[in-house]
Amino acid sequence: MKIGVIDSGVGGFSVLRELYQLMPGEEYFYLSDQEHSPYGDKDTEYLRKRLFVLCDELLAQEVDLIVIACHTATAQAIEALRANYQLPFVGIEPYLNVLKHPQDGDQYVVLMTESTSKSSRFHELRERLDPNKKINLFACKKLASIIEAYFHDEITAMHCVQSVALELKHIENLKSSLPQLTTAILGCTHYPLVSRQIEAATGLKTIFPGQAIAKRVKERLYSLFAYSTASDIHTDGFHYRRKVSDPWQHKPWKYLQKVATIG
Ligand code: DGL
Repeated sequence: MKIGVIDSGVGGFSVLRELYQLMPGEEYFYLSDQEHSPYGDKDTEYLRKRLFVLCDELLAQEVDLIVIACHTATAQAIEALRANYQLPFVGIEPYLNVLKHPQDGDQYVVLMTESTSKSSRFHELRERLDPNKKINLFACKKLASIIEAYFHDEITAMHCVQSVALELKHIENLKSSLPQLTTAILGCTHYPLVSRQIEAATGLKTIFPGQAIAKRVKERLYSLFAYSTASDIHTDGFHYRRKVSDPWQHKPWKYLQKVATIG
């Protein structure tokens, strides 16, 4: 099957690697919208327009399903996409479901982009899963851009570590008023790429629903296309466009090792 994956940049690799782990025999088309990133400071109308352009590009590749591997784009555009295209979409949302099975004494903060934090979809999700507002919110202005720059070797590892710590320094204030704060829910797909740095900077555990999204994609493929996977067949890589204006490139799967090593 052909699966399209979209993000503003490299963040969706945190989802792509889980898709590949679960379904290594499929053909993936990863479309990054670097010319228009970051998405975190963009409004609904802007993002919807971009997402229509990206989905048209993926439809030209005849994908069977599109994964919106971006919390911001899911929050701002997935309903419009579902209303306008025939094919199935799977999106990603901040993992407030953690409240269904809370660990004793754990308290949570969700890290996300400003655009996600302002979106009505996120506020509806919170109303549904966290009506008593137990989860704290923390909107990050620059974190995704720092990670993007680091991934593309535009800043050094040291610069990245310092910038991540600076961006998250107000978590300290939150921790002093909430001593039970233990866990950061990573509500942007860029953040898992530097989860170790985030944990070091904040002293919190991190959680991210990448595996659950991959399982959801598999279930959707199974129910819609009677899909079954031969788990021993591995394709040799994925198709990648860093910007919509670039041609498609072939990247070997080992390119995703970079994701595992950056942080
Ligand atoms: N990775 C995206 C997300 O999950 C977008 C980050 C950005 O471009 O600001 O929200």
